[in-house]
Amino acid sequence: MIGGRAETMRIEVCEDYEALSLRAAEIVAELVRRKPDAVLGLPTGSTPEGFYDALVATGVSLAGVSTFNLDEYLGLPQSHPESYYSFMKRRLYDRTDLKPENCHIPNGMAADPAEECRRYEEAIRAAGGLDILLLGVGHNGHIGFNEPGTPWDARTRQVRLAERTRQANARFFPSLHEVPTHALTMGIGTILEAKRILLLATGSGKAPIIREVVEGEPRPAVPATALQQHPGVTVLLDKDAATLIEL
Ligand code: F6R
Repeated sequence: MIGGRAETMRIEVCEDYEALSLRAAEIVAELVRRKPDAVLGLPTGSTPEGFYDALVATGVSLAGVSTFNLDEYLGLPQSHPESYYSFMKRRLYDRTDLKPENCHIPNGMAADPAEECRRYEEAIRAAGGLDILLLGVGHNGHIGFNEPGTPWDARTRQVRLAERTRQANARFFPSLHEVPTHALTMGIGTILEAKRILLLATGSGKAPIIREVVEGEPRPAVPATALQQHPGVTVLLDKDAATLIEL
């Protein structure tokens, strides 16, 4: 089903989470077949887990591909099981022929985080920019770790996590106390420069924020509404996440 309100946004509703994951993998695999040195922007979190499984299952070679992750917790070493680096290693890096030198993720242990963020922006630029960027969305509308109120020209930088985000992510840690308070994230300005964006959302819990993203007034209080300004966004939903939008 294809519909949607914002003219530049293409909405696709899939039957369920498995179908959504397969569809996302098919879009990325098709890009990589066409452009074997594609540059991918990638998220972590629960939403894209099925996508990574499905992408691996396509068997497409990622030997020429570069990846840039959206974000990383500040102060967690890569070896920590909940670092986003560890997530990516488990879900993708170790299961494909991606070359380690082409897998980029901000270094949450950098001695100088501001310098690390500048270096990261420069690396994206040097790679030719992101051909496609996959995004999840927080219940509060965050994309990457750009929390409500983030200016839309923000670049990769250090941010403080909203309490709601820490609480949402506490499910992965022994206690809320151990969830990092800060992260390094691509900025909304960085995100909007991706040539194509694929926003994934699944489950009824995301339906209210998806209504905002697709039909709400664009405003910094809901960071994901910035995507209405991008010329090439596809919003890929399962039926439950699509219940509150008009199609
Ligand atoms: C993760 C990220 C976050 C998540 C968002 C949704 O790299 O940047 O913005 O996409 O918090 O998380 P899930 O998918 O766990 O609901």
